[in-house]
Amino acid sequence: MYQESVQCVEAEIDFVEATYKEIRGNEARFLREDFSGTGQTSAEWIKRNKKNKAWAIDFDEEVVQWGIDNVRSQLNHPENLTYKITDVRYSGITKMDVILAMNFSYFLFMERQTMKDYFVSVKNSLEPTGIFFLDAFGGYEAAKELTEERECEGFTYIWEQATFNPINSQMQCYIHFKTDKGEQVNRAFSYYWRLWTLPELQELLLEAGFSQVDIYWEGTDEESGEGDGVFQPTKIGTADAGWVCYIVALP
Ligand SMILES: C[S@@+](CC[C@H](N)C(=O)[O-])C[C@H]1O[C@@H](n2cnc3c(N)ncnc32)[C@H](O)[C@@H]1O
Repeated sequence: MYQESVQCVEAEIDFVEATYKEIRGNEARFLREDFSGTGQTSAEWIKRNKKNKAWAIDFDEEVVQWGIDNVRSQLNHPENLTYKITDVRYSGITKMDVILAMNFSYFLFMERQTMKDYFVSVKNSLEPTGIFFLDAFGGYEAAKELTEERECEGFTYIWEQATFNPINSQMQCYIHFKTDKGEQVNRAFSYYWRLWTLPELQELLLEAGFSQVDIYWEGTDEESGEGDGVFQPTKIGTADAGWVCYIVALP
């Protein structure tokens, strides 16, 4: 249910491939997926080209084992995907063309210095021509205690922002699921993290030594008024209730 409702690895890798090509003029081959969970995004990278290699980094042994058994085993070239059980700050996987920190996982770092140390370690793990991709979310409803439901095939996805503390911007979020047959999976996933703002993140990336940081904002579909899935670099975003964007940082 998580894979169907939360991740869209195809769209993520479409963006990474196209943006890398646009900026560097050639194709990336070596990708490191930080906070990889089961390594779905790395697997999508491997599927795109048999010359591609990926390293999926996560410190949760159980989650990684599930990825090895259920994700890597489905690949035509499983040898091109390596899992490493370690803290993302000390993985030792370097000389990368692309490093990903997606699904807001790096929001788990609560302190400015910890976040900066992580960004420095990423910068030192990239080739000079490499690119660091992150996503971020925000908007005036992001700092609100709320529950939202979305219908998926056979189940309902429920996102809960249970607490938000304006003094330190830390919040408790949960994902719950409810199947169409009435089964409830309460607090299937729990996230206690800090809601970082884009100015804070851009400043920290530059302080960590990245030479250029761009925000890629999603366009709006004129008919539905919803996001159109096309992300373009811009200096001016829209003051939406909830937005998701990409951050692209060059060493
Ligand atoms: C929000 S999940 C993201 C999973 C997957 N990337 C996705 O997009 O769905 C966060 C993952 O980060 C891992 N994690 C959290 N802090 C970490 C750290 N410091 N080093 C390595 N993994 C970490 C957790 O074990 C968890 O699997």
